[in-house]
Amino acid sequence: MDKNCAIKMRGITKRFGQVVANDSIDLEIRRGEILALLGENGSGKTTLMNMLSGIYQPDEGEIYEDGNLIYIHSPREAYEYGIGMIHQHYKLIEVFTAAQNVILGLNDGKLDLSAANAKVAEICSRYGFEIDPEMKVYDMSVSQKQTVEIVKVLYRGADILILDEPTAVLTPQETQKLFSVLRNMKADGKAIVIITHKLHEVMDVSDKVAVLRKGKYIGTVNTSETDPQSLTNMMVGHSVTLNIDRPRYDKPEKKLIVEHLTCVDDEGVKKLDDVTFTAYTGEILGVAGISGSGQKELLEAITGLYPVKEGSVRIINEGKAEVELIGKSPKKIRESGVGMAFVPEDRLGMGLVGSMGMTGNMMLRSWKNGKGALVRRKEPESLANKVLEELEVVTPGIDYPVRRLSGGNVQKVLVGREISLEPSVLMTAYAVRGLDINTSYTIYNLLTEEKMKGVAVLYVGEDLDVLLELADRILVLCGGQVAGIVDARSATKEEIGLLMTEYKSKEA
Ligand SMILES: Nc1ncnc2c1ncn2[C@@H]1O[C@H](COP(=O)(O)OP(=O)(O)OP(=O)(O)O)[C@@H](O)[C@H]1O
Ligand SMILES: [Mg+2]
Repeated sequence: MDKNCAIKMRGITKRFGQVVANDSIDLEIRRGEILALLGENGSGKTTLMNMLSGIYQPDEGEIYEDGNLIYIHSPREAYEYGIGMIHQHYKLIEVFTAAQNVILGLNDGKLDLSAANAKVAEICSRYGFEIDPEMKVYDMSVSQKQTVEIVKVLYRGADILILDEPTAVLTPQETQKLFSVLRNMKADGKAIVIITHKLHEVMDVSDKVAVLRKGKYIGTVNTSETDPQSLTNMMVGHSVTLNIDRPRYDKPEKKLIVEHLTCVDDEGVKKLDDVTFTAYTGEILGVAGISGSGQKELLEAITGLYPVKEGSVRIINEGKAEVELIGKSPKKIRESGVGMAFVPEDRLGMGLVGSMGMTGNMMLRSWKNGKGALVRRKEPESLANKVLEELEVVTPGIDYPVRRLSGGNVQKVLVGREISLEPSVLMTAYAVRGLDINTSYTIYNLLTEEKMKGVAVLYVGEDLDVLLELADRILVLCGGQVAGIVDARSATKEEIGLLMTEYKSKEA
């Protein structure tokens, strides 16, 4: 027997009704290795790993651990087999400390907190986590919360760790920290599976890459012997070009004028500080910044969702009529005919209604637009079909609840709906987060198409390489202020990186 082979999955099939999420999959997970699990949205990655974490049981096939056939009936049993999974949505209790959360559910309520604190501290120093066991979850950043989830799994003795898109919510710096922790765990002999859509991360951190396509296992390759292009071809099944065209629009005109925009949060902290810029028709204006620099507030303030303290946001309508948006509710803004579409960061909160299907969600938006579509199903239905076809949404049907779709497909529905409204200003926040590489390029191309129709596109993104390739200009936010607006055709990553971090406030 191969002693480094921790898990062997053989002929694993999992169905959800008509959907075959996993179709007779074989997979090996080895100790002392980081395996990247790659595949397009809806290809079955999360489902396959959930059969190791005890959330689902396979309909067919076997799972072997160190050569022994095992049956994993629940997450608790998975822990007994040393398997722990870090899911995308964290289940921590906000008012508890890191250590309290870690021991939650253990020892039948008899909590020896000081022993737990010590053990958590020990795990942290062993693998290089930076977290205070006594810190409360509500004071933590997303990355710190993720750390608690990982420590929780390690505390339960897991030596097979599965991370489902852990970097989706991290900054590049936080990602690097996570990767160094993963490398330490690998050196310690743990078996690690990481799901990510970012191919440069796959190349950076993994030893091997296993590829799924439409529920089927395609194969496993050594990372050192592959590259992003061949991985993409393997995932998609045919060759795809990873290029973004950046045509220039003939007649750019002022479309969205933001002046001295200042927003303050509940605690009186300035989230946007005297922000001034103009977005033009036929332009993709990229917005860059380390996370929490005011990106979210900027888009929400423009759409009327975030209270504005000072400043003005005007849209120039056809015939040069200016419409002031500040002081109007989101509904009023929509009704004023300015044609603004918004893809928010929070897809299933602010964007879509999870229990409804695609049709319902299309209806929601056109109804809110005041078109009285509540009674007319045809229009939303044809919109739903159009989005389904053009974006190749993987769903059993247009009335299937969107929350049951894979993460990437949820985003396709949202982006598709907003574009189908034929807006004149289109704002997107992290539009490709969680999307596979092929779909990401589909979205980039769609945004470029919109731009060439004369739409003013605001694209908040976190991937500087993409911003530099896709956008016409890039507005850099730092601490809620505009640190600079650069020409994306000539700017460098370093230049933008500096603006993101080293911009000094005017008062300082
Ligand atoms: N609980 C469920 N009920 C019904 N269908 C499901 C369920 N979970 C997953 N599916 C379906 O199974 C297929 C595989 O989904 P899965 O979430 O495993 O994909 P994924 O590869 O993780 O995708 P993504 O990259 O978007 O996260 C999809 O078609 C999805 O809609
Ligand atoms: Mg998934």
